[in-house]
Amino acid sequence: MSAAVADAVRPVMRPMRVEDLDAVMVVERRAYPYPWSIGIFRDCLFAGYPAWVLLEGGAFIGHGVLSVAADEAHVLNVCVDPARQGRGHGRTLLRAMVQAARGRGACRVFLEVRPSNPAAIALYEDEGFNEIGRRPRYYPADNNGREDAIVMAMELLGD
Ligand SMILES: CC(C)(COP(=O)(O)OP(=O)(O)OC[C@H]1O[C@@H](n2cnc3c(N)ncnc32)[C@H](O)[C@@H]1OP(=O)(O)O)[C@@H](O)C(=O)NCCC(=O)NCCS
Repeated sequence: MSAAVADAVRPVMRPMRVEDLDAVMVVERRAYPYPWSIGIFRDCLFAGYPAWVLLEGGAFIGHGVLSVAADEAHVLNVCVDPARQGRGHGRTLLRAMVQAARGRGACRVFLEVRPSNPAAIALYEDEGFNEIGRRPRYYPADNNGREDAIVMAMELLGD
């Protein structure tokens, strides 16, 4: 593969824009049984939350949304197209988001995850997040049920 072709297909992460949202929603709906609505993404962008898309060869393959308030950050969404999972993209997104949180002055990062999502839990644990609690019946689930959230956190130590 030539260097030019390799550059063209190398994943690129850039800030999410409102014009991206139709493509973001395609990935979001493929990846989650209970996807965010486009309105949630719009609200996050209008609220100024840092958000990114991951592109490969021009195709949307993932996205992430963060919120940072005072010295705490919250990973609100990290998502990779199912067709592109298992290739390190989720880790790339998460690491970049944690770095962005650090750059914005956060001292710790929080996130919630379903107990039924072992891939995400493994990624978060591997990156240094620990379970700090549970939110009972936090997520919608099948048959009008609810599923708890595992709350995870990571302290950001100085460089
Ligand atoms: C969670 C998610 C973002 C991971 O993205 P990914 O690109 O597939 O993950 P990566 O290839 O970067 O894998 C990183 C690590 O995650 C873990 N992991 C990923 N897929 C896994 C699987 N199927 N089973 C167990 N662990 C897995 C492993 O620890 C892996 O490290 P390794 O490759 O060294 O073993 C992706 O599965 C996803 O988008 N899922 C749907 C949306 C979602 O649930 N987001 C999280 C909401 S809390």
